This record gives sequence, C-alpha cells and structure tokens, in this order.
Amino acid sequence: MRAVVVEQYGVLPVVQEVPRPEPADGSVVLKVEATGLCRSDWHGWMGHDSDIVLPHVPGHELAGTIAAVGSGVHGWQVGERVTTPFICACGACEQCREGNQQVCPNQLQPGFNYWGSFAEYVAVPYAEVNLVRLPDDLDFATAAGLGCRFATSFRAIHQVGKVVAGENVVVFGCGGVGLSAVMIAAALGARVIAVDTNPDALKLAREYGASDTLQASSTTVQEIRDLGGAHVTMDALGSNDIVQQALLSLRPRGRHLQVGLLPSGVQLDVGRLIGQELQWLGSHGMPAHAYPEMLTLVATGNLKPADLITRTITLEQTPAALAALTNGTPAGVTVIKP
Ligand SMILES: NC(=O)c1ccc[n+]([C@@H]2O[C@H](COP(=O)([O-])OP(=O)(O)OC[C@H]3O[C@@H](n4cnc5c(N)ncnc54)[C@H](O)[C@@H]3O)[C@@H](O)[C@H]2O)c1
Ligand SMILES: [Zn+2]
Ligand SMILES: [Zn+2]
Repeated sequence: MRAVVVEQYGVLPVVQEVPRPEPADGSVVLKVEATGLCRSDWHGWMGHDSDIVLPHVPGHELAGTIAAVGSGVHGWQVGERVTTPFICACGACEQCREGNQQVCPNQLQPGFNYWGSFAEYVAVPYAEVNLVRLPDDLDFATAAGLGCRFATSFRAIHQVGKVVAGENVVVFGCGGVGLSAVMIAAALGARVIAVDTNPDALKLAREYGASDTLQASSTTVQEIRDLGGAHVTMDALGSNDIVQQALLSLRPRGRHLQVGLLPSGVQLDVGRLIGQELQWLGSHGMPAHAYPEMLTLVATGNLKPADLITRTITLEQTPAALAALTNGTPAGVTVIKP
C-alpha cells in the first residue's frame, strides 16, 4: 500500500510502498477513505511525541471501510463504514470500566504508537471497544474529523467545561480544534468570542457562530474584559502566551480548558488560580461510547462539522501540507483522500 513515511523528525516525509497491516487478534484493518490533517500530526513529525518510533506513518483522524477482521472480533463485518476515536482504549482496565476510555493507561493511538492513517490502510486495535458505525448519510470526509478535533472539542466544551447558555466562551486559536469549539459552544447557546492571528480563520469563526472576533494583539485581554470577561477560556493552539492571556481574561471562578499541546511546558500563576478560584481543566479526546449524543446533534443539523472542511488533498500532497504547518495554518480543516 501507499503511505506517507517519516524517516527523520522535521525532514519532509515521502510517499512510499509499504506492507499493508494485518489484523491482529481483537483488531480490524480499515481501508482509509478520509483522514484529517491535525496539528498533533505536526507535533509528532517535529519529534514532540516520545511514543513515536521511526520510520513512522502519521495520521489519527480517520474514517474508512472495514477491510479485514481479526480473530476474536464480534459484531463487525467487512464493508462496514466506521470511524474511531484517536485514543483506542483497551476496554478492560479500571478507567475503561468506569467509562473514561480517553485516559486508558493501555491506550494505543494510530499515527503515534503505531502506523497511522496517512496510508491506504490502517489498523484499529481493541476494535469492539473503539469502532463507531457511521450513519448512512454521514460522508467519510466529515466523519474523519469527528475522530480527533471535533470530538475533542465536543468533550472539552460540553462534558469537561460544562458550558451552558449565556456564558462567555473565549476560544484562542481557530484552527480545527478551535472552529469546532466555536460551533459547539454556539450551539449550546454560549456567547462565543474567537481570537486568532489569521483574519480568514476569524471570518470562518463568525460564520460558525462566534458573536465577537478579535485579531490577537497586545490588547486582547482588555478587549475580552470590555466584553464582560470569560466564564470559560480554551487554548486551542498550545501556547504559553495564550495560557497567560486566557487566565487574565477569566472572570472569578472561571474555567480554563487546555486542549492545545504544550511540549515546552507552561508557567502558571498559581496564586491567581487560588485567589480567583480558577479551574485549570485538561481535556483529551472523547471515548467511542460518547459519540451517539454528538452524532444525533449532527443528524438534526444542530452541529455541522461538514462546514469546517475547506480543503481536500491527496496522499502525495500531504508531506508538503504537513510541513507547511510550521509557518501557520490555512483557515479551516484539511482532509486527505488517500
Ligand atoms: N487534547 C487533545 O485531545 C487534542 C486533540 C486534538 C488536537 N490537539 C492539539 O490542539 C492544538 C490545535 O490543533 P489544531 O489542529 O486545531 O491546530 P491548527 O494549527 O489547525 O490551529 C491553530 C490556530 O491557532 C492560530 N494562532 C496561531 N498563533 C496564534 C496566537 N498567537 N493567538 C491566537 N491564535 C493563534 C492559527 O492561526 C490557527 O488558526 C494542537 O496543539 C493539537 O496538537 C489536542
Ligand atoms: Zn483501558
Ligand atoms: Zn488530532
């Protein structure tokens, strides 16, 4: 099969012929129909993820058709249309039994722990725990986005942040994660304030429901305070600067959602967290069992993840698109059709 292979961190990967994955016990192999390009793929390519072993195939935001079913997998057939959370949980540990598959200590992630979906085929381990059947009217490109950024934002805004109607939600960074968060928070009835450096991303944020858009600058915190301050902030880029701005923008007892990765760490004003009773909340993916609520909101048209897709590219165009993330992000979500 063809796959995008990273031979060295930070060096342009190439499309190569590699062996197709075989379905191990408990796993299935999918024919990849669509896969999203997420900044986490860029972090992996840059060497920020200690789970990755070279040579490596990135890609973790995927949808496809079951091509082969391993032994011990019941209830799934070749030809079914599916997606999976990027966190493939074991289903057997204490966290999984309590429904918290997103923090399973035995989790495997395509494109991080093993070869991912920037390829014609990809494996899904612990298939019975992680496969999500796609509704017939949900296309593969839209479904791919649900596997990482849309589902992550759904969990962060709805389940971890517990955003309710009337709250001011400030989303810093309006890429795939941030625009998803804008759409989801707006659908919950929040007043969404979107912040980005890219005017095109802010234009999309307004289309997806942001009531205010702010061009990131040295006065961003004051502008947010002038709008009443934030009940909830989200760092949807992964930046120490953004974390500082977010914490200064929060109202007393506000909640900060950390979704963007911070490979270089962050400085926290713990005194402010204590004195203002601010909550610092990490959020990681979303388990497969939580998909039905999100899929229902998609089916009823309350959430429109298809609108986030602005660009579809081929496997051959993927190495350059991955490398281009070093210099910024094109507005909207990029989907790869292998
Ligand atoms: N926690 C999780 O489970 C999880 C899941 C998915 C992605 N992530 C992480 O979330 C982050 C976002 O991923 P993505 O794919 O949406 O990224 P992206 O590159 O698509 O979006 C980042 C956005 O931030 C904007 N930006 C850049 N500098 C800015 C600044 N100073 N102020 C405001 N905005 C600025 C960019 O213009 C872009 O629109 C990454 O760190 C990714 O690794 C985490
Ligand atoms: Zn587990
Ligand atoms: Zn991702």
